[in-house]
Amino acid sequence: MMILRSNEEIGQIRKAGRIVALTLAKMKQHARAGVTTKELNRVAEEEISKNGGYPAFKGYKGYPATICASVNEVVVHGIPSDRRIAAGDILSIDVGVRYGSFFADAATTVAIGDISDTAQKLIRVTEEALYRGIENARPGKRLSDISANIQSHVESNGFSVVRAFVGHGIGENIHEEPEIPNFGAPNKGPRLESGMILAIEPMVNEGKFDVEILEDGWTAVTTDRRLSAHFEHTIAVRKGEAEILTAL
Ligand code: MF3
Ligand code: CO
Repeated sequence: MMILRSNEEIGQIRKAGRIVALTLAKMKQHARAGVTTKELNRVAEEEISKNGGYPAFKGYKGYPATICASVNEVVVHGIPSDRRIAAGDILSIDVGVRYGSFFADAATTVAIGDISDTAQKLIRVTEEALYRGIENARPGKRLSDISANIQSHVESNGFSVVRAFVGHGIGENIHEEPEIPNFGAPNKGPRLESGMILAIEPMVNEGKFDVEILEDGWTAVTTDRRLSAHFEHTIAVRKGEAEILTAL
């Protein structure tokens, strides 16, 4: 069952989303060669609490940190550490916030210094794929229209879509129904309606789509150790175009 949120509830999620957006903006300022992902985690934690929010990931299923910081071949769920990011790296940062009873979740991938042409293309195509998904999140469309449009944009650019992780509904929990795969045939699944809140999050690999989880039980890496990028927004389905709740 997909929950339809009232305007009041969407207002609360918008507040959570604004804190997510402010935090990701801070991350972009601080993500420079030489900084550790733990330092970024601390900056995120300060920004969230300064704005009256709470980190949504910390403690979720035992996850130990406020952000996920996923470098290069790490697809998602990279745990902040003493690793220093370096020029040439790509860094995906994922942030979830609770504000009152409501949640929002977003992610972005940033270039550290000069990166390869392929890495630049991977980041661009992944972000474009997210927007292809968002454009299709409209009343009357069906859930898998989001998925299919993401997949076709990624594959027509020669990259692959991760299968092992999916987007999700969000609201009073960080993960609610439905699951939103970034692949699949169009015109399937529930019909979209105004008031649905969705976290759309393509994870795109330079090489094959396969991933494996490292010994820490969290870090998901590409099996071929080639690059991966991740973009995510929390959106509200509205009459006409969706409203992005995690943009400034
Ligand atoms: N955006 C990711 C998701 O929706 C981040 C979750 S990290 C976790 O699953 F630590 F909370 F699991
Ligand atoms: Co998410």
